[in-house]
Amino acid sequence: MTADEVTSVFKDQWNAYQWVVDNNLMGHRELLTAATSFIEDRYRDSPVAMADFGCGNSLLIPEMTRSVQLDGYCGIDLAENALSMAKQLLECNGIKHQLLCQDLFSGMPENSSSPGLIYSAFAVHHGDQQKKRQFFSKLFQQTPDHCAFVLADIMIHPHQGFDDYTQMLEQYFAKQGVRPDWLSHIMTHIRQYDYPETEETWLDIVRSSGWKVLQKQSLGPHDEYPAIFMLLEHGKVA
Ligand SMILES: C[S@@+](CC[C@H](N)C(=O)[O-])C[C@H]1O[C@@H](n2cnc3c(N)ncnc32)[C@H](O)[C@@H]1O
Repeated sequence: MTADEVTSVFKDQWNAYQWVVDNNLMGHRELLTAATSFIEDRYRDSPVAMADFGCGNSLLIPEMTRSVQLDGYCGIDLAENALSMAKQLLECNGIKHQLLCQDLFSGMPENSSSPGLIYSAFAVHHGDQQKKRQFFSKLFQQTPDHCAFVLADIMIHPHQGFDDYTQMLEQYFAKQGVRPDWLSHIMTHIRQYDYPETEETWLDIVRSSGWKVLQKQSLGPHDEYPAIFMLLEHGKVA
């Protein structure tokens, strides 16, 4: 499985994903509210550089950072089509940016300035548990003390099998009105490339990589497609 294969659905079917986001099937509305409130509180008085792993078209970024001074935004993704949408949006909003077409699991790109804030929404689940652990450990080593991390990603219920999870999800998408031709592409992608974790496993992954959990909550309007939202901080290394 290559990273290009994993991202092919986003390259070929961005409209389908956009429809899912616009209709809040994954909880982007709640994510925007929670992330904006944290960012406003924490960076009210100090400029911050931000890195976004699996940024897609950076749709939420302008609104999420409207009331703080963004000292540069670095978006990382492998879908060129999404990156060109991101470029347009960031330019329209006057956000100084760098957009990089590279594998997010490689960690912080060389030559990028050290971020005070990391953000990743619905992207890290494309790696299995080992890849996720390596990703969080790498970022912990690459970022400075007090760096914050806003993470949102999909969850599976404890003791729920993956087949049951995907079956419930397919019914949920159909009930929400996802077009049948989109649904088959979406479900093929999810069955092949998604690795949801339970809340307990997400917490263990981030904590054992060194990150301190400041806050966690469930996200998403529907029980069939739960997501976790976490605010993390780079604690002092002893
Ligand atoms: C579900 S979308 C999320 C986009 C955006 N963060 C959002 O919340 O709407 C997942 C994004 O992660 C990207 N992605 C998945 N695996 C990746 C990888 N290994 N390297 C870089 N980007 C990846 C996809 O291309 C896609 O844009």
